[in-house]
Amino acid sequence: MAGGYKYFEAIEKNAGLLGILTAIMVSIGGLAEITPLFMRAHEVKAAPGVKPYDPLRLAGKDIYVREGCYLCHTQMIRALRAETERYGPFSTAEESVYDRPHQWGSKRTGPDLARVGGKYSDEWQRVHLKDPRAVVPESNMPGYPWLMQALVDPDEITQKLRVLRLLGDPYTDEDIANAAAAVVGRTEMEALIAYLQGLGIANEPAAATASTAQAKP
Ligand code: HEC
Repeated sequence: MAGGYKYFEAIEKNAGLLGILTAIMVSIGGLAEITPLFMRAHEVKAAPGVKPYDPLRLAGKDIYVREGCYLCHTQMIRALRAETERYGPFSTAEESVYDRPHQWGSKRTGPDLARVGGKYSDEWQRVHLKDPRAVVPESNMPGYPWLMQALVDPDEITQKLRVLRLLGDPYTDEDIANAAAAVVGRTEMEALIAYLQGLGIANEPAAATASTAQAKP
């Protein structure tokens, strides 16, 4: 074994060589971990009940991204008891196959939103998004009052569905043909609320949620 120690000594006394060999070992370890994940990413199929976003929720998801909600909110419940007790069952990859890009996030200034759907009424969400301190006095979340005026662009949503179909989401010709009509006259607030109310519950069509949102403008 004396020969082996000689090599160790030579490597340990040469910082450059030690650095290079360490980098090689770490890279091999990294590749062994990461490569299978890349290969398997294509195999991940939607969990039962998880469907592509309907037009109103899709618009809402894009508003969520545009407004940077992911900077303060994760949508990723970790498999830790403290998390599952607070937020519900931990998140799985199968739940976010239709999220492009995924909204897992990495920073929780506010609570995780992966299962916030149905936790509050549409009305609570509307008041909260307009002025969070109206319902949670100590909140430091910004208000988004302009979403109540801005309307969803129907032409844009048709294009988005087309592009998502190209990427493999199973939208039918009928879905695409009806997309614009589903969002016409809807405010960005309604779209965002429809999106939030669908988070974590197997995606049923937004119709039920959306019509309630519309009944209470
Ligand atoms: C600066 C950080 C910040 C940003 C940006 C932010 N939030 Fe929040 N959010 C919070 C905090 C803090 C809370 C907890 C206090 C409260 O309920 O207002 C919260 C609470 C919430 C809740 C209630 C969650 C629960 O389980 O009680 C929802 C829903 C929500 N935010 C949605 C959004 C949406 C949608 C956006 C983007 C339009 C957004 N937030 C942007 C910080 C933020």
